[in-house]
Amino acid sequence: MKTKILSISEKDIEIAARIIRDGGLVAFPTETVYGLGADALNAQAVGSIYEAKGRPSDNPMIVHIARASDMGRLTPRLSPDIVNLIENFWPGPLTMVVKKKDEVPDRTTGGLDTVAVRMPDSKAALNLITMSDCPIAAPSANISGRPSPTRARDVIADMDGKIEAIVEGEDCRVGIESTVVDMTSGIPTILRPGIITAENIEAALGKKVQYDPALLADDQAMKNQGGEGLKPKSPGMKYKHYAPKAQMTVIEGRRDKVKAEIKRLKGLNERLGLKVGIILFEEKAFIEAAHDFFAKLRDLDGEEVDLILAGAMSDSDGVGFAVMNRMLKSAGYNIAKV
Ligand code: TXA
Ligand code: MG
Repeated sequence: MKTKILSISEKDIEIAARIIRDGGLVAFPTETVYGLGADALNAQAVGSIYEAKGRPSDNPMIVHIARASDMGRLTPRLSPDIVNLIENFWPGPLTMVVKKKDEVPDRTTGGLDTVAVRMPDSKAALNLITMSDCPIAAPSANISGRPSPTRARDVIADMDGKIEAIVEGEDCRVGIESTVVDMTSGIPTILRPGIITAENIEAALGKKVQYDPALLADDQAMKNQGGEGLKPKSPGMKYKHYAPKAQMTVIEGRRDKVKAEIKRLKGLNERLGLKVGIILFEEKAFIEAAHDFFAKLRDLDGEEVDLILAGAMSDSDGVGFAVMNRMLKSAGYNIAKV
């Protein structure tokens, strides 16, 4: 397939919108990461997203809308909490899981009776949704298991020849995927951390928010196993997300010790003839880390490093927690404590 490379001009977005209306696939920029979009209400079109990504078909998609009033097409009722979060955070990097209407195909929600919805804070994305005149289902526009794409060139590297068109926009402002919060029970539950934190949501709602116990349990269990130095572990398939081609280790501990250990391991591995890449953000630069992390992984892949040594950040900060969630998954929970 010849993939059209389009700009964010109105004329090109109209071409992209026609492709979506005709059941085709278009990659487009959002403020978080690039998405791979199809008409969310067209089961066949959504099916071809799974094919292009090589993604397991039980993994549900996020449905993107351009006006809050489009929520009514997707869900039968809006609780006061949902309305509150829409007012506070949309358009923006917050996805809400809500009860779904029958019109939303099972293919879009992986057979669940809920649907994940967000309104992206990107003019190109909002224009595309509006001109397509349908909600757009879009996972991140990477080959399944690869780092999420935050730059048009990353999308081209993964998707050229596989989809009808790619809309080339700016680099993504946020750099990690949206926060996903389940709003189907009384207690809002964070299923995936992002730059909108539990504290942000609590402040808006005036009530406690919880993390999905599975999120914390998985992280903790995998971390504990990974704590014995550099012994490589083979992670379960479930954890093979965002993986760079290189083997990756996260160094965790006091900052000065982390720096010293990275230096030591770099020297050691280089003497053994390996090419080593380093990911070390400023200690409290959580927003910058979120912005740069996936791009850095892809750049190091491009440099064909054999080993990536990454310095852990504090996960007591909400954004730090979101960055560490991606970093640990990328490393297959391969952690060295110092
Ligand atoms: O920032 C983002 O959210 C990006 C951009 C393109 O908008 N999209 C994205 O989509 O990250 P994806 O498919 O890579 O991640 C969707 C996440 C997955 O973890 C999926 O399991 C979860 O949302 N999800 C989707 N629908 C769900 C549902 N009904 N219930 C629970 N989790 C759901
Ligand atoms: Mg993804």
